[in-house]
Amino acid sequence: MDDNGTKKNSLKTILVMRLNIIIISLLSFILISCNHTKEMTVSKTEPIAINETKIEQTESYLLFKNNCYACHSVTSKWHDEIIAPPMAAIKRRYQMSTETRNDFIEAIVKWAKDPKEENALMYGAVQQFKVMPKQAFYEEDLLKIATYIYDNDIEQPDWFGAHFKEQHGGKGMGKRRMRGM
Ligand code: HEC
Repeated sequence: MDDNGTKKNSLKTILVMRLNIIIISLLSFILISCNHTKEMTVSKTEPIAINETKIEQTESYLLFKNNCYACHSVTSKWHDEIIAPPMAAIKRRYQMSTETRNDFIEAIVKWAKDPKEENALMYGAVQQFKVMPKQAFYEEDLLKIATYIYDNDIEQPDWFGAHFKEQHGGKGMGKRRMRGM
């Protein structure tokens, strides 16, 4: 009896230990899968961060378009319609006389806040169009606009090309079609 009892008991402990091992491995499996899904969510949030900068870019682009394009339009042809030099020309001129990105941004903001003939860098333009009229821009907007002008190819916003490719299929066909544009 006693002997049988201890045998049964040791069998029981072996079984319990096995069960424990199974439970532990199941738990760790679940934990690992949880971690795995966490990793997946992290990588899923990356495009959202990119979208945020896109939204910022879009905001600056719209500010630029709404405040400056009325006169500095990129679509007007170099003849009758044009009432101010194209922003691409202004960018080139201002890059020539400033050294850093900050200098450039500062110079554009300073000009747009208070355009005065004696501060103009584009004498030819002042002759042709008369000095840019003073307007009530927000300094905060001007900062965003000037940064946008510096950071982007302003004839065609560079994020727009990438955005377009992404929206209209980055694989195969889409890319080949883009090249023709
Ligand atoms: C109502 C028309 C008009 C609007 C709107 C306008 N500009 Fe101008 N801008 C001009 C004209 C005209 C000139 C060319 C004469 C001159 O240089 O002052 C000019 C010239 C400039 C120059 C060159 C100045 C120089 O050194 O000679 C800068 C920089 C400039 N604009 C920035 C801006 C920015 C930035 C905006 C938008 C926030 C803007 N402009 C909106 C009319 C405008």
